[in-house]
Amino acid sequence: MKPYYEQDGITIYHGDCRQVLPTLKDTAIDLVLSDPPYGTGGWRRGEAGAGSNPAATLVREDWDDGAVDWLALVPCDVVLTFWPPARTFQLLSAANARGLTKHRQLYWRKPDPKPQPGGRTRWSMEPIWVLSPDGFQLYGNTDDLCEVSALRAGQPEWLGHPYQKPLKVMRWLLAKTKSDSRSIHG
Ligand SMILES: C[S@@+](CC[C@H](N)C(=O)[O-])C[C@H]1O[C@@H](n2cnc3c(N)ncnc32)[C@H](O)[C@@H]1O
Repeated sequence: MKPYYEQDGITIYHGDCRQVLPTLKDTAIDLVLSDPPYGTGGWRRGEAGAGSNPAATLVREDWDDGAVDWLALVPCDVVLTFWPPARTFQLLSAANARGLTKHRQLYWRKPDPKPQPGGRTRWSMEPIWVLSPDGFQLYGNTDDLCEVSALRAGQPEWLGHPYQKPLKVMRWLLAKTKSDSRSIHG
């Protein structure tokens, strides 16, 4: 498969992960860090940046299929994935079937979560599952929680995706999985 981007040791493929992952099976890969579709949809306001407006519509994009079949295709033994609490069973069942039987959670906490319509509970925690075989350890001299505000429209890091994850959280996750005996690629 032809890379979409290749520079300074970084290679990016743009495509369906079900087609890309099998092509990487002979590559040495330390971990998969994924932010897949949750399959839960999301509340949208009329316009970006209107998070405090209680009027909202539940929107589920075409790509938001909540699939877990990609787990069977991952070509390494450590998977970190953002995932909603409501669909834990589906994820952990697929992880077990793939031999990833040690399940730990890390958390991204948003100190100022978006208001929910109709006075519903605001969700401030996003779990990140660490799926591995028994014996895998997390490192990093911090606890299991990273507190960072969600990105808002107009912020320099914001690219427009409704569920964009902050770089600070992604860096924290990579540091957690790095020990002296493991290096991080890509
Ligand atoms: C939660 S979003 C990821 C947001 C991203 N991490 C960010 O910070 O902007 C999930 C993404 O997975 C993509 N996606 C859905 N199915 C996919 C598949 N089979 N292979 C690759 N990407 C897929 C969707 O297009 C969507 O952009």
